[in-house]
Amino acid sequence: MINIIKYSQEEKNNNQLIDEIVNFLFINLENFGDPIQYIRNALNYAFGRTNSNSGFVAVAYNDNNIMVGAAVVLYTNMKGVFPENLFAYLAVDKNHRHQGIGSKLMQYVLDNTNGSLSLQVDPKNTARQLYEKFGFEVKYLEMRLYRM
Ligand SMILES: CC(C)(COP(=O)(O)OP(=O)(O)OC[C@H]1O[C@@H](n2cnc3c(N)ncnc32)[C@H](O)[C@@H]1OP(=O)(O)O)[C@@H](O)C(=O)NCCC(=O)NCCS
Repeated sequence: MINIIKYSQEEKNNNQLIDEIVNFLFINLENFGDPIQYIRNALNYAFGRTNSNSGFVAVAYNDNNIMVGAAVVLYTNMKGVFPENLFAYLAVDKNHRHQGIGSKLMQYVLDNTNGSLSLQVDPKNTARQLYEKFGFEVKYLEMRLYRM
């Protein structure tokens, strides 16, 4: 059985938990991942470690209480031009995929957020099918100007 636990600001000083989630995401995002510091920045934001930003992390544990999936949501404090929630990361342990854990996490995120969500997905990533199954659609082409 899969048990999903929601962590947020109350755990902001739990360095061991936050390190575990950062490492889990870094390993399991694989080809579609980010530098570890980007992941840590998102976690710092979700746990309210940086000023008043916040969000939450939903972690899926198996029967042996091993972390097998994680989803990170950041609250934008916006509505309209930017949706209320940024779905920053979703990953399931390599050895536990195709068992519905990603879908469970997605449903959990939808049940535990208010308002709209946006996310980024590589066009080649099969995760896109999961997102479409839950009603996500391509609305805009994202453009970035990178600056130091
Ligand atoms: C994407 C990911 C989270 C899905 O987790 P999962 O537990 O395997 O997902 P589920 O078992 O709930 O599958 C959900 C749906 O996703 C799709 N899907 C997931 N992996 C797939 C794959 N390798 N090939 C095709 N479809 C896939 C299917 O549509 C599936 O629906 P179905 O079971 O009704 O066919 C997981 O593959 C993962 O961690 N990938 C690496 C990290 C990543 O790419 N994250 C997303 C970044 S945007």
